Amino acid sequence: MPDLPPVDAGKRALSALGELKRARQPITSVTAYDYPSGRLADGAGIDIVLVGDSAAMTVLGYDSTLPITMDEMVTLTRAVVRGVRRALIVADMPFGSFQVSDETAVANAIRLARDGGADAVKIEGAGPSLSRARAIIDAGVPVMGHVGLTPQSVTQLGGYRAQGRTAEAAHRIVDEAVALEAAGCFAVVLEAVPAPVAARITGALHIPTIGIGAGASCDGQVLVWHDLLGISTGHLPRFVKQYARIGEAIEAALRAYVADVRAGAFPAVEHTYPMADDERRRFEET
Ligand code: KIV
Repeated sequence: MPDLPPVDAGKRALSALGELKRARQPITSVTAYDYPSGRLADGAGIDIVLVGDSAAMTVLGYDSTLPITMDEMVTLTRAVVRGVRRALIVADMPFGSFQVSDETAVANAIRLARDGGADAVKIEGAGPSLSRARAIIDAGVPVMGHVGLTPQSVTQLGGYRAQGRTAEAAHRIVDEAVALEAAGCFAVVLEAVPAPVAARITGALHIPTIGIGAGASCDGQVLVWHDLLGISTGHLPRFVKQYARIGEAIEAALRAYVADVRAGAFPAVEHTYPMADDERRRFEET
């Protein structure tokens, strides 16, 4: 793997995000789920590396984010942390880890911070999540909110579809984001909401908004690693921009490898270990 130098020295502080918002400097974020993706994202200058529960779909192959467990999220977070020197690392609290009570939410947030090494956690929704956010923050773990399309509620939302497309629904999302800020969140993800709604929220909040499918007015943008790099298969949401076709490159490389092995072209002499002639002779005579 190439040795990517850090873009700037030192760990990104939470307060730096607020400074970026005030300076109108867009904040960059991408998901990562293992050591190499954490390392590459950090080396590329990403501000926030999100260990998303989207790993359930992108890495573990489930058809929703719901099945991923706390143990799995802790393992993935630890791997990412080993690759990141500078970016802020936010770990998603998976489904079931914060819904039951403030106490279980605090215990699980502490696990992601202490055992996983995350700098902060992200929880979906408002309503009961407001009290969870307050409790986790009081326990010393910073919290990022997430409103709009919240994939852990995909069944209630009727599928992966844009939210806040009527005036009433848009006002509800604005109110939720304002309430998350009042609860002490340091940033809020806005997923799949119309751009004017995201613009209203971004103007109303002092904390940064990080958009995914929420338009250009957000203070920052986040994309899923596999979508951005062209590794995902099947239907892609309209908000995805693919910056590479890594999936195709991997498949082509694997096909070439399969063909080489089948043709006897790999391994070649340069891929094998030599043996001194006298040792070889002695070996073959015995
Ligand atoms: O899990 C995830 O990848 C996320 C992003 C879509 C924001 O929550």
